[in-house]
Amino acid sequence: MASLTIRKLDDAIKSYLRLRSAKNGRSVEEEVRVILRDYCEGSPAPTASLTSPSAPTERPAVERANTAGQASVTLIIGGGIAAFKSMELIRRLKERHIDVRCVLTKAAQQFVTPLSASALSHERVYTDLFDPGSEFDAGHIRLARECDLIVVAPATADLMAKMAQGHADDLASAILLAADRPILLAPAMNPLMWNNAATRRNVLQLRRDGIHMIGPSAGEMAESNEAGIGRMSEAIEIAAAAVGILRPPRPRPLAGKRVLITAGPTHEAIDPVRYIANRSSGKQGFAIAAAAQAAGADVTLVSGPVELRDPAGVNVIRVESARDMLHRVEAALPADIAIFAAAVADWRVANEGEQKLKKTAAGMPPLQLVENPDILATISKLKDKRPPLVIGFAAETENLIDNAKAKIARKGCDWIVANDVSPATGVMGGDRNTVHLLTRDGKDISVDDIKVDSWPVMTKEQVATELVAKIAKTVEKNS
Ligand code: CTP
Repeated sequence: MASLTIRKLDDAIKSYLRLRSAKNGRSVEEEVRVILRDYCEGSPAPTASLTSPSAPTERPAVERANTAGQASVTLIIGGGIAAFKSMELIRRLKERHIDVRCVLTKAAQQFVTPLSASALSHERVYTDLFDPGSEFDAGHIRLARECDLIVVAPATADLMAKMAQGHADDLASAILLAADRPILLAPAMNPLMWNNAATRRNVLQLRRDGIHMIGPSAGEMAESNEAGIGRMSEAIEIAAAAVGILRPPRPRPLAGKRVLITAGPTHEAIDPVRYIANRSSGKQGFAIAAAAQAAGADVTLVSGPVELRDPAGVNVIRVESARDMLHRVEAALPADIAIFAAAVADWRVANEGEQKLKKTAAGMPPLQLVENPDILATISKLKDKRPPLVIGFAAETENLIDNAKAKIARKGCDWIVANDVSPATGVMGGDRNTVHLLTRDGKDISVDDIKVDSWPVMTKEQVATELVAKIAKTVEKNS
């Protein structure tokens, strides 16, 4: 019977077999046996994947990362005893939902095999600058660019010297020279090499070039009786550093600040089944609550009846009427910033029916209206518990700026966000808003000195982000 030499198979088939065997934890020969046995037993031949993952039709990593919503890392494994820790690093990165593509230098392959890296990363491993399977379209450029971060672990003295000098004579150094992504090095070498003047110069140069570094740490070396600085950081530390670069912590300018927000309409009961309401959707107030929470604030949102989900991390209190809203707002004080975005009903029914009002021969029942408490004015005029920054909204259908200026003065707030809510603008219930921010520094400022900043049309989320940024700036200035 003829014997089969795997070495003589096409590159694409060899590559496919290598990957498939790595994934299944078998040798390539065993994998071929399994494929042949399955085929003889009637399973379809595995032709579909021959082009994947190394052939030209492979989808770029960036595209993959976007579809899966995952970040991706090109992990360059240098030639040092610490290379074994990089196998754990692959696992740690994948645990953090990061795709990993490995590149092994020639020296690295003396310590770990491409097969292990491939099995752990579930990806093809790259080793050769002149690999016909990937170089036909400048594979090193793709490996350098189609990722969010390049990690070099272990970063040997030699690899760092090449980087500092801009060499590109193998796949790893060519990727590093072609990179336009952040690079994180995890150096590992003998303490004498780390302390050598040449390495010191290279480290300095790389830091100046904006390269991130983690470690090395102090400890025992693989060489007997040697200790000092040169041990590669642990895989878990390198993974954490990678995550720190991929997902930098967001600035939290309102951390430690309490923000109180009202939103939505109020419902004022006529009888047990009917009420007076308005067209407010609550979207603007909810967007401000989410933006303030994202800026690190401790947010309480007192909302009238709306069909919106609670923004994550926000304490949401649902109310019905203006009077409920006022009570819950008062109970939520003290606050550093209060934003009154609710479209509070100005009037409620004084003679609210205990039972459903019935049609009678006497005609329509008379509805007596009484004015609701003005929540914004009440809180603005508090003595001790007045929040240092009180912001109202002005919903107008005419004379927008003049009416809004008059409202600041009448209600005693610091800022007003004025918006035109005429039906033609689509603001009430819509997703976009055109606002004017009116500000005054100090209560004694005359109406003529109120500053007006007109913003372009934006989504309600963008208005929220801008407003929170402006608040953060003011809070910072005043503290
Ligand atoms: N407001 C409030 N309590 C009320 C009425 C209004 O807290 N009873 C607040 C709103 O949340 C908004 C500001 O006051 O921040 C202005 O609301 P708006 O409806 O524009 O004005 P009104 O005060 O109702 O005055 P008018 O109806 O005359 O325009």
